[in-house]
Amino acid sequence: MPRELRGVATYDAPPNIALVKYWGVRDAELVLPYNSSLSVTLDRLRSRTRVRFSPSLEEDEVVLNGVRATGGARAAVLRMLELVRELARGSGSAEVRSENNFPTASGLASSASGFAALAAAASAAAGLRLSGRELSRLARRGSGSAARSIFGGFVRWEAGRRPDGKDSFARTLFGPGHWPELLDLVVLVEGAPVKSVRSADAMQATVRTSPEYARRLAGLPRRLARIERAIAARDPGKLFPLVMEECDSFREVCETTFPSLDYLTPSSRAILEEVRALNRAAGRPVAGYTHDAGAHVHLFTLERDAKSLRRRIAAVAGVRSVLVVRPGPGTRRVDGRAPSGAAPERRRQP
Ligand code: DP6
Repeated sequence: MPRELRGVATYDAPPNIALVKYWGVRDAELVLPYNSSLSVTLDRLRSRTRVRFSPSLEEDEVVLNGVRATGGARAAVLRMLELVRELARGSGSAEVRSENNFPTASGLASSASGFAALAAAASAAAGLRLSGRELSRLARRGSGSAARSIFGGFVRWEAGRRPDGKDSFARTLFGPGHWPELLDLVVLVEGAPVKSVRSADAMQATVRTSPEYARRLAGLPRRLARIERAIAARDPGKLFPLVMEECDSFREVCETTFPSLDYLTPSSRAILEEVRALNRAAGRPVAGYTHDAGAHVHLFTLERDAKSLRRRIAAVAGVRSVLVVRPGPGTRRVDGRAPSGAAPERRRQP
């Protein structure tokens, strides 16, 4: 007989922005990617999720940003609860409450922070003490990019090779303090459309139909290694152009997907062009742009250039606001109880 689960836990989890994109899976059920990816975990922004397992609940209850969840959003949360019940060999219903400290409709990625917080809170509430690696594998099942949001700083998610996915998890390469001068200006644009196709489905359309996908995959290990080296050396002259090259490659496979995937608005495109022009005029890479499957643009730059870059970008038509964020910590327990045991697994310390 499975034991009746009871317990409560609250976790905060951050979003992340990918410098090397995850796009395409070899196993959709287990969420196993074709390529390894690398991201920066962002400070200031977070999802806060509380999970309570209690025998007094008749069924699972899911409230997201104050609204009872229905449809696909509710189903995705229930799938994660089911995985946790399996891992804990337990039964019983749970109440899930999750809130973002940024507007979900803004189009800022919330699935990474949301599923990282849910995986951590649900497993802790069920009495599991998962390691960071185990937590990363669990979060991956909710949303691939969530595997990286478990950890802080500069994070690499290893694609792995095993059919069961045991070797597909993320780890911190460099902690949040590795490169203090590096900033991410998050440029929010007006009229960013709400996603009509889930990334998980869109990426598989790319795998099936983009004639450029195989070439992109073949070049990724080299680009990933170069980006990792540029971060290790804290070298903006190397990093920013590589980040733009990777973003352009991601956009190319999206645009050559059938039907074509176009995530940008005219303002997003104007921002990319502004950064190219600025770098040309300065004779050095002042900034590097990237974007995910959405219209907002992330600009990596150094502290000393941030003010003038921000002023210039804020003047682009259709720019709503610019947030300044830094590399930040990973997923954390915030209800004052024992820590989750999800200690970052660092390969090297800066
Ligand atoms: C473009 O893992 O976030 O952001 O859960 O369906 O939204 P969904 O998929 P998700 O896909 C992320 C794709 C990406 C690139 C990246 O973050 O690596």
